[in-house]
Amino acid sequence: MRAVKTSLTGIKPTNTPHLGNYLGAIRPALELAKQYRSLYFIADYHALTTVRDPEVLRTSVYDVAATWLASGLDPEKTILFRQSAVPEVFELSWTLSCLLATGQLERGHSYKDALAKGDVPNAGIFYYPVLMAADILLYDTHVVPVGKDQKQHLELCRDVAQRANHVFGEGTLVVPEAHIGDAPLVPGTDGEKMSKSRGNGIPLFAPAKKLRKVVMGIKTGSETLEEPKDPEPSTVYQLCRQVSPEAAAEMAEKLRAGNYGWGHAKQALYETLEAELGPKRETYQALRADEAKLDALLEEGAERARVIARETMGRVRRAIGMTRPA
Ligand code: ADP
Ligand code: TRP
Repeated sequence: MRAVKTSLTGIKPTNTPHLGNYLGAIRPALELAKQYRSLYFIADYHALTTVRDPEVLRTSVYDVAATWLASGLDPEKTILFRQSAVPEVFELSWTLSCLLATGQLERGHSYKDALAKGDVPNAGIFYYPVLMAADILLYDTHVVPVGKDQKQHLELCRDVAQRANHVFGEGTLVVPEAHIGDAPLVPGTDGEKMSKSRGNGIPLFAPAKKLRKVVMGIKTGSETLEEPKDPEPSTVYQLCRQVSPEAAAEMAEKLRAGNYGWGHAKQALYETLEAELGPKRETYQALRADEAKLDALLEEGAERARVIARETMGRVRRAIGMTRPA
């Protein structure tokens, strides 16, 4: 096994990322690149469980790639690629599915939620956790940074890797660990969890004017300007704290002192966001305008990812007894 450990995360190309995705997923996952050999892939086959419009799939891949790159992903030091560029993932997922009881998939949260809503889930939604396990195991991943919502998928992945090692021999697959952030969920403009489906998102790379307008629309208390205010329950303060603890400490002090209105606090939040996102916005726009360049970067990443994938699949094939004469 290699000395440098590997981290990997998958990003579904289903929306243009918002501030919640950035603070909750992108920024912490990029931190890991300092310590691990890091792979980031765009989970286009996973998106196919819901996306039906080819143009949406095609363009979302570029939106997501440009977002990660503008957020600081270094394509030289890390590996960024499309899931669909490495077909070995299907070989491994089939192999894994033969080690899993169907009951384990029937207990899957996403599948159960779809049934509970009265949907008729497609088989992709049922099978999703197997493909996700293959995504992870194919690259000998040690740590997977994900949100709490993905915990069950990680447990299934660990289970199946352990079973493979038990059945086919220790060392067949690396058993990964989940790296679940403990940061609280990022609230949206209405105070509820920021989510694309709620329409309460703060856009990451919208023009400054639009960003300011969204920030000014955040719900606040109705205290007068003079009144001292408790920062803790306020969405404006909570957002500021997740972007910059220093700026938030200053905001809290002013709110508690009084003579500082919610309008002032929102202006301060806007400036804090602009300081974090403004410089990245230009990079994003330049990258997003050049799909050919993004394709080339993703292809270079896939080239490197395939080398690892072939090595793992070779090892798995030997372990399961599926060898062919050269
Ligand atoms: P959405 O909830 O908008 O549909 P996704 O489910 O596509 O977003 O989430 C992509 C990643 O961003 C996941 O790792 C998820 O945990 C993280 N994420 C999404 N919304 C938030 C939020 N409000 N706060 C923190 N992290 C979030
Ligand atoms: N299921 C993850 C999500 O919904 C995306 C994903 C797919 C993923 N494959 C993965 C995340 C492998 C981490 C590792 O956000």
